[in-house]
Amino acid sequence: MPMIPLSVMEEIKARSPIEDVVSRYVSLKRAGSNLTASCPFHSERTPSFVVFPATQSFYCFGCGAGGDVISFLMRIENLEYPDAVRELAERCGVSIPESGGHEEQGVSRKRLYELNREAARFYRDNLFDEKKGAAARRYLAERGLTSAIVKRFGLGFAPDDFSMSDTMRAKGFTDDELVAAFLCKRSERTGRPYDLFRGRVMFPIIDTSGRVIAFGGRVMGDGVPKYLNSSDTPVFKKSRNLFALNYAKSSSAEEMILCEGYMDVIALHAAGVENAVATLGTALTDEQARIIAKYTKRVVLCYDSDDAGQRADSRALELLGAVGLDVRVLKLKGAKDPDEFIKKFGVDAFRDALSGSSSKFRYTMDKVLSKYDVSSDEDKIRAMREINEYIAGFGSEVEREIYIGQASDKLGISRDSIKNDVSLIIRKKRRSDKRSEAVEIARDAAGFGDRVNRDKLTHLRSASCEETVLGMLAAYPEYIKEVSSGGALSLSPEDFTTEFGRRAFETMLRIYGETGGFDIALLSAELTQDEVSRITKLAVSRDKLDNGHEVFAENVRALKDEKRKQQSKTDDAFEAIMRLREKNQAENENEE
Ligand code: CTP
Ligand code: MN
Repeated sequence: MPMIPLSVMEEIKARSPIEDVVSRYVSLKRAGSNLTASCPFHSERTPSFVVFPATQSFYCFGCGAGGDVISFLMRIENLEYPDAVRELAERCGVSIPESGGHEEQGVSRKRLYELNREAARFYRDNLFDEKKGAAARRYLAERGLTSAIVKRFGLGFAPDDFSMSDTMRAKGFTDDELVAAFLCKRSERTGRPYDLFRGRVMFPIIDTSGRVIAFGGRVMGDGVPKYLNSSDTPVFKKSRNLFALNYAKSSSAEEMILCEGYMDVIALHAAGVENAVATLGTALTDEQARIIAKYTKRVVLCYDSDDAGQRADSRALELLGAVGLDVRVLKLKGAKDPDEFIKKFGVDAFRDALSGSSSKFRYTMDKVLSKYDVSSDEDKIRAMREINEYIAGFGSEVEREIYIGQASDKLGISRDSIKNDVSLIIRKKRRSDKRSEAVEIARDAAGFGDRVNRDKLTHLRSASCEETVLGMLAAYPEYIKEVSSGGALSLSPEDFTTEFGRRAFETMLRIYGETGGFDIALLSAELTQDEVSRITKLAVSRDKLDNGHEVFAENVRALKDEKRKQQSKTDDAFEAIMRLREKNQAENENEE
């Protein structure tokens, strides 16, 4: 994508205040002139994510993510820079001029949504086609699905031929669009795209806005792979979507049921349990946990009862707990998954089991106890220690009290002694937290492990002046003009010592040269997200200085001094080597 004209970028940003865009994803609370929230980019209990309306930027003091509205969208929607700009432009109705002659490389998201909708329609029409869909309809009926539920989920059938892509081409969709939507793959021999889903029952994946974004296709019977799923596309991120969330989000139940399979969810919805969702053929992600937390306070995990399902439980428990959800685990007995359970025992039995699902704490306690033989004193002590450690990990005193009570009942140990042990663990943990925090701060100060500016450790003084200067240039674009117009404070990339500083400055100059201004958004096209975050941090911390220009000038001078010193050091070294050489040469000549 060619550089977007600054005026267009400014228009997009003017129509998309960062606080509005961000608040679609997290709930912001006012704090003075800024807004705060729990960071959507890492798990935390106390909010350290700040939106600065004055500079239209955000920064998380916990994980260091930062930037402007564009970098926010890139991170939260997992988009590349041009896609984020397009998406935002689309949302606020600004059109981006396509530069002449330059063939549009990416396909538009809007077209992909249309293509997916058309494909879903095609698959559905095939399923209900008297002849073509007969076998698939029989398969679904045998699995107990009525045509009402089949229609509700928009299920379809992909015939075992290439008629989907032919039909889509006839509707005007291009090969590039078919491939980008993961509906087709290019043949290695001919380069021509062919249908990926063939001879499969199709499950459309629908987002919370009701758009078809991807598909899962199941073979009828025992073929492999059992399911074929869309890979990520410009409109679909596996890790950020859940099957049936479009329905579950508006179900009136106060909890959500998280299953493993499409068929489990459909069976539950068919039986009237409409708050069930499933991941999309992968383990639950941190992002999915946060999405669930937007819609509900409590989750019941209802994974398959096989080993794999049980192993997935612990990780999911952790992720869901980390975003503040109350998590329970439902273990179904006598069936391998919810689909089979309902078929065998009926939905009432399922609801009964649901009300008996155990809390995360009970689940964990049972798991610990099952590892030990509690009739032996030693084992009992070990088990108790493990459980106490776990209780100590809860931030809230109320929660700890409740769990101490439960553990005491279960193991026949007095509440007081459990409480004592737990407090001891907490105190110890606080001491070691403080220690590691101190180490961290010292490290940060010394630039250890600074992945963004790798030269920081070896050039501390330079790096510190450079950071101040970069931050101020980003905060006050008029300074870019000043340093590039050859006056007393003129600055060139060669004046920078660290590679990051030089590259960041070069990029700023280039943006200024091409657009006549500066906007952090334009950095996202050239620098990594971490680098943009760093510059935002620097800009944020440099904002609103009274003696701003003085500080700036001082740092520009110091930066150049440092470079000169570096230079003379290398010059000195160079001279020394040359002198040594001459001396050696002279000696050699003498010997001859
Ligand atoms: N899955 C997949 N690829 C496979 C097998 C499974 O992507 N080869 C995913 C699907 O999303 C599936 C989920 O994992 O829904 C759970 O797998 P499984 O329990 O085997 O599938 P069910 O949904 O229960 O389907 P069915 O009852 O038809 O076997
Ligand atoms: Mn199943």
